[in-house]
Amino acid sequence: MSFDPHQRIFIAGHRGMVGSALVRRLRALGASDLVLRGRSELDLTDGAAVEAFYRESKPSVAIIAAARVGGIHANQSFPAAFLQENLAIALNTIHGAFRQGVKRLLFLGSSCIYPKHAPQPIREDSLLTGPLEPTNEAYAIAKIAGLKLAQFYRRQHGVLFHSAMPTNLYGPGDFYHPTHSHVIPALLRRFHEARTTGLSEVVLWGSGSPRREFLHVDDLAAACVHLLGLEDPPDWVNVGTGTDVTIRELAECVRETTGFAGGLAWDASKPDGTPRKLLDVGRLTSSGWSASIDLVSGLRRTYADFLSEMASGTLRT
Ligand SMILES: NC(=O)c1ccc[n+]([C@@H]2O[C@H](COP(=O)([O-])OP(=O)(O)OC[C@H]3O[C@@H](n4cnc5c(N)ncnc54)[C@H](OP(=O)(O)O)[C@@H]3O)[C@@H](O)[C@H]2O)c1
Repeated sequence: MSFDPHQRIFIAGHRGMVGSALVRRLRALGASDLVLRGRSELDLTDGAAVEAFYRESKPSVAIIAAARVGGIHANQSFPAAFLQENLAIALNTIHGAFRQGVKRLLFLGSSCIYPKHAPQPIREDSLLTGPLEPTNEAYAIAKIAGLKLAQFYRRQHGVLFHSAMPTNLYGPGDFYHPTHSHVIPALLRRFHEARTTGLSEVVLWGSGSPRREFLHVDDLAAACVHLLGLEDPPDWVNVGTGTDVTIRELAECVRETTGFAGGLAWDASKPDGTPRKLLDVGRLTSSGWSASIDLVSGLRRTYADFLSEMASGTLRT
């Protein structure tokens, strides 16, 4: 069975990095009936508005790619907002979908749902087996609640609601705030500015030794379409490349990609976060899907997007 892109499909968060990749992918597959609402039209933390939206627009499929997202600094500064907003978005979009007869729903979580010291690579069944990484606990708890909501609506009501847990993502439409963004957009911007302003050195946070896995957002969109085409998808499944790099190796790669010729230094007084976070993607690959965009070409494409978004004034900062 494969996914029919001609269904009436609601993409929550369609302007975001993941949401816009899903729109690109589905349009490339010929999708003709996408239901899209910006935050100013539909605040997903407003339960009554979400239910009314589902009643009026009647999508048959919903993909929940909306969330309050951010790097370590943002998570540490606004834990209450990260929990409240992401919990409300999950509850309203999943409960509203059920109440209004949406046939299929894919909820997007994140690999931070797993315990800080889960055995590596991280299997789906290590969920709720140990303490979470404190720097993004609030966000992780909201994502676990969303995953469990989808699982239990499926178990209690037999609806085809399921979830995908992507690893760290990057690509076009990312958020390039100097301190609140994720590591790849932060590095691309820092090295680019260092090159264009003639700096001799870039100082980076932490020790450089943590290992991370990165997936290009176009690969994630392809994986979501694959999962929506499965007759009996797992309740939740990891989405990643199955390979990781040290932050030091990543920094070297970004330095090369941006053409910065200066030095690299590390500020070990800043937090490193989880020592390693590599997903076990065995469940996904055994269902017939694997990533196709490698990190080097993914970074090259993303830097080109960064430059064109800057030139067109659409860079998100
Ligand atoms: N980025 C990553 O590395 C990563 C990794 C793993 C999983 N994920 C998951 O992927 C999903 C999307 O992440 P992303 O990177 O695409 O984030 P993003 O670029 O920040 O996009 C999030 C989108 O959600 C919308 N949104 C947030 N709160 C809303 C509200 N109350 N009402 C309506 N819309 C709202 C935002 O609208 P505005 O445009 O108006 O702000 C934005 O368009 C999330 O579920 C996240 O957990 C992301």
